[in-house]
Amino acid sequence: MKGLILSGGHGTRLRPLTHTGPKQLIPVANKPVLFYAIEDLKEAGVTDIGLILGTNMPEKVKEAVGNGSEFGVNITYIMQGEPKGLAHAVAVAQDFVGEDPFIMYLGDNILKSGITEFVEGFEESDYQARILLQPVDNPRQFGVAELDDAGNVINLVEKPEHPKSDLALVGIYLFKSSIFDAISRIKPSWRGELEITDAIQELLNTELKVDSHIVKGWWKDTGKPEDVLDANHLILDVLESEDNGEVEEGAKISGRVYIGKGTIVKKNSVIRGPVTIGENCEIEAYIGPYTSIGDNSVIIGGEIESSIVVGDAVIKCNERIVDSLIGNHSHIESKENNLPKGHRFIIGENSMVHL
Ligand code: G1P
Repeated sequence: MKGLILSGGHGTRLRPLTHTGPKQLIPVANKPVLFYAIEDLKEAGVTDIGLILGTNMPEKVKEAVGNGSEFGVNITYIMQGEPKGLAHAVAVAQDFVGEDPFIMYLGDNILKSGITEFVEGFEESDYQARILLQPVDNPRQFGVAELDDAGNVINLVEKPEHPKSDLALVGIYLFKSSIFDAISRIKPSWRGELEITDAIQELLNTELKVDSHIVKGWWKDTGKPEDVLDANHLILDVLESEDNGEVEEGAKISGRVYIGKGTIVKKNSVIRGPVTIGENCEIEAYIGPYTSIGDNSVIIGGEIESSIVVGDAVIKCNERIVDSLIGNHSHIESKENNLPKGHRFIIGENSMVHL
C-alpha cells in the first residue's frame, strides 16, 4: 500500500502565520502537524509516501521533511500547483500510485489513535474505498455520509445544506485504483473544486462498494487558530516529562514538563505542566498549563498559558498572555518607563490582537 499526504492549500484562516510557510508546518506540541501524519503512516506500515505540494512555499516542506529517512519512510514530492480540489490532487498523483491501493491523508489533520486499525483488511477486501468518519455538531461544514446498518456507505454529500447524518468525513481515506476512473468522470463543485467526496459518490453510483470506520479517540482538523490550540491541548495531555536542559535552584516546576537541550529555566520561574519547551530557550516567567514554547525563545517576566510560541520569539512583559498563537521571530515587549499606558504595534496583514 502507498500513502499520499496532501500539503497544499493557502491556509487563509491561519494568516498571518501562513504568510511565512504552509499551514502543515505549524507546530503542535513543538512538532509540525505534517509530521504526525507521516508518523501515522509509518506506524501503519506505509513507507512509500507521495507528498503533494501546493504553491504556498513548498520548498519549506521539502526542507523540513527531506527524503523521509529521518522518519524511516521514502518521500516522493508531487507538485499539484494551483489547488483545484482534493480529487485533483489525487489525480495528479496517479503515476506515483500506479495500480496499488493507497491511503490519502490530509496533512493538517491529527488523530489520537493513528490509522493502523483503519488500514487493516482493506487491501484484500472487495471494497473500492473506505472512509473515516466522526460525529460532529456542525455537519454542514464537512463532507457527510449516510450509512446502512452494516456501516456500508449509501450516500455522500459535500457540505450539505440538509445533512442526512452527523457523520463527517475526516480527511483520511483508503482507495483502490478504481478511484482514478471515478475522478475522471466528476465535474467541479459549486466552489470550483474537484471534490473527493463526489468521486467517492461516483464509485457508489457505479455499484462499487465503500465502507466506513468511526474515529476512535479524537480527531482535529487544524485549519483555524482555535483548532491548532485545541490540538496542542490534546497532544500535551499525553506528554511525558523529560529534562534535558538546566533548571536553576528556586525554579518551581510541577506537572508534566518537557525541557529541551540547552534551555535554561531561571530561578524565579514557575512552570505548571503540561508544558513543552524546545531547545536553547531562556525562561524566567510563569508558564502555565497547555503551553508549547518553540526553540530559541526568550521569555522573561509575565505569564503565558494555554498558548503556542512557534519559536525564536522574545517575550519580555508583565502581562498575562492566554490562548495565543505566536509566530516565529515575534517580539512582545512592554515599555520600561512610566509614561501613560499605551500599546505600540508593528504587525502584518491579517494579524489579530485581542486587548
Ligand atoms: C475537506 C473535504 C471534506 C472533509 C474535510 C475534513 O474539506 O472536502 O469532505 O469533511 O476536508 O477536514 P475542506 O477542508 O476542503 O473544506
